[in-house]
Amino acid sequence: MKNIYPFKSKVCYEQRKQAMQQEPRLFWLTGLSGSGKSTLAMRLEHYLFHNGSKVFLLDGDNIRNGLCRDLTFTAQDRKENMRRVGEVANLMLEAGLIVICAFISPYVTERQLVKEIVGPERFAEVYVNCSLQVCEQRDTKGLYAKARKGLIPNFTGISAPYETPENPDIILKTDQESIENSLQKLITFVEPQLKLQKQMKIA
Ligand code: ADX
Repeated sequence: MKNIYPFKSKVCYEQRKQAMQQEPRLFWLTGLSGSGKSTLAMRLEHYLFHNGSKVFLLDGDNIRNGLCRDLTFTAQDRKENMRRVGEVANLMLEAGLIVICAFISPYVTERQLVKEIVGPERFAEVYVNCSLQVCEQRDTKGLYAKARKGLIPNFTGISAPYETPENPDIILKTDQESIENSLQKLITFVEPQLKLQKQMKIA
C-alpha cells in the first residue's frame, strides 16, 4: 500500500500463545440460513469458554449489525463481508484467541480467501449441512416465506446461490442428527487442535 508503513509489535506471536496457553485456531461454520450454524457456534463457544479456552464468536447477524452494517447481500457485498471478517479473525488469532465464525459464506472462493488471510494451518472449515427443504420448513426467522414472496432480494437458496464446500474438514448433518450429536462431533473435532504444541517460559 502506498504511503503506509506497517511495523511489527515488540510482543511476538509465540509469547502471546504462551500467555494464552492455547493454539489459536479459526473454526469457520458455513451453511444455509436456518441450518444451525449460530446455534452450534454459540454452544461451542460456551463449552470452550467454560473449559478454559480464550474464545470469541463472530456471527453474521451480529457483524452485519455493526462492522458490516453498510453491506447488502449482493455477491460483491458478501465478498466484502468475508474480507472484513477474515481480517478481523486474523487479528484475533494474532492476539492468541480461538475464533469461531458463523456466516452463510456461500462462495467457495470467498471461503478460500479467508483461509488465505488467516493462514491455512490455522483454519478449519465446518460444513453445517442441512437441506434447503428442512431449512425452509424450520424458517425460524420467517425469512424464507418472505423470500418466496419476492420480498427479500438475493436470498441464499431461493434467489442467490449456495456453493457446497468441496473439501470441508468436517460435515455436520443437522437435518439427520440432533443438535446435541452435532455439537459432540464438533467438540471432538475442535478440542485436540487447541492444545498448545510447545511449552516455553516467557522471558
Ligand atoms: S453472508 O452470505 O454474507 O455470509 P451472513 O452470514 O453475513 O451472510 O448473514 C446472513 C444472515 O442475514 C441470515 O442469517 C439472515 O438472518 C440475514 N439475511 C438477510 N437478508 C438475507 C439474504 N438476502 N440472504 C441470506 N441471508 C439474509
